[in-house]
Amino acid sequence: MKDSYGRDINYLRISLTENCNLKCIYCLPEDFSPKQYNERNILSEKNVLSIAEAAKEMGINKIRLTGGEPLLRKDIVSIVSGIKKIGIDEIYITTNGILLADKAEKLKSAGLSGINVSLDTLDENQFKEITRGGKLSKVLEGIEKSSDCGLKVKINSVILKGINENAIKSLAEITLKKDIDVRFIELMPVGQGRKFTGIKNEEIYNLLQNLFQFNNNFFEIKGVAKYYKLKNSIGEIGFISPVNSCFCESCNKIRITSDGNIKRCLNINGHKNIKKYLDEGAGKEIIKDILKDEIFKKPEKHLFGKENKDEEMKNMNQIGG
Ligand code: GTP
Ligand code: 5AD
Repeated sequence: MKDSYGRDINYLRISLTENCNLKCIYCLPEDFSPKQYNERNILSEKNVLSIAEAAKEMGINKIRLTGGEPLLRKDIVSIVSGIKKIGIDEIYITTNGILLADKAEKLKSAGLSGINVSLDTLDENQFKEITRGGKLSKVLEGIEKSSDCGLKVKINSVILKGINENAIKSLAEITLKKDIDVRFIELMPVGQGRKFTGIKNEEIYNLLQNLFQFNNNFFEIKGVAKYYKLKNSIGEIGFISPVNSCFCESCNKIRITSDGNIKRCLNINGHKNIKKYLDEGAGKEIIKDILKDEIFKKPEKHLFGKENKDEEMKNMNQIGG
């Protein structure tokens, strides 16, 4: 359906948990403890499928499952197959990849179309520092298994000033060897992200142009990313630049957090809780009306760095990316 600015909203992001098995420095606070995490009030599989069913009837044709780390959910494969059965064909997951190797094939068989893996460096020690203890080899194994079983793989990399600028080259080189897209995401001033300085995607573009040169005959805009290709590459290089070039004009999405709050925009806090209605037995028409109302009220822009009384103060794991 269309929002009040005439944008067609056809992409729903559902976060399945705030919990994460990594603690990336720009995403989670040091004292975050997965063990203390209370899973009681998160969307159940039944909740997720009821939302997907209502959303499909409103024109949603793409669902991305996010987190926290969505693969921590024991019912992840069953959620994907449930969404597929509802008739939504574009189902994706955004993951840190730690648990991916074991699950890739099962997810593919359940109907998953592709996977976006967060990966900010290819250096084992740097990975440990950024993720506060994660094991890089597990992620690489997950990526390999996913590609091998036919899942479309994109890598999401956030570059932090003074921390992993030296990773840009090797991350980009992946596209020379494999049919994997590597996307550079500008650090957003959200949650822990406020404590770090990002770098402009324009700088990354210029660096890669000097190192490898881009293929002048290739350019595409898909969703929030602008895609280029290095000369003689297989995969694409994407740039997501929410801070230095806003893409709100073509925003096509709505988000639901793992506790059921509907977010009209990444940077604006959600007020309406859909889980409450689902748990009270609300039928599909009520759920559709709630979603319609929220979609209609989507703001024009995300207002990063500007006065915004509804600014989202949560960490990215609570927003769902
Ligand atoms: P594709 O479906 O593959 O295009 O992925 P996606 O970019 O929609 O999803 P993903 O979960 O991989 O998100 C990548 C990054 O883009 C994350 O940091 C998101 O927060 C950011 N992002 C995605 N959509 C928006 C948006 O509407 N606004 C802003 N500001 N950032 C977004
Ligand atoms: N700015 C930009 N991207 C972020 N992510 C997490 N926090 C931020 C932030 N402050 C990215 C992760 C993941 C994606 C879903 O969001 O690296 O790839």
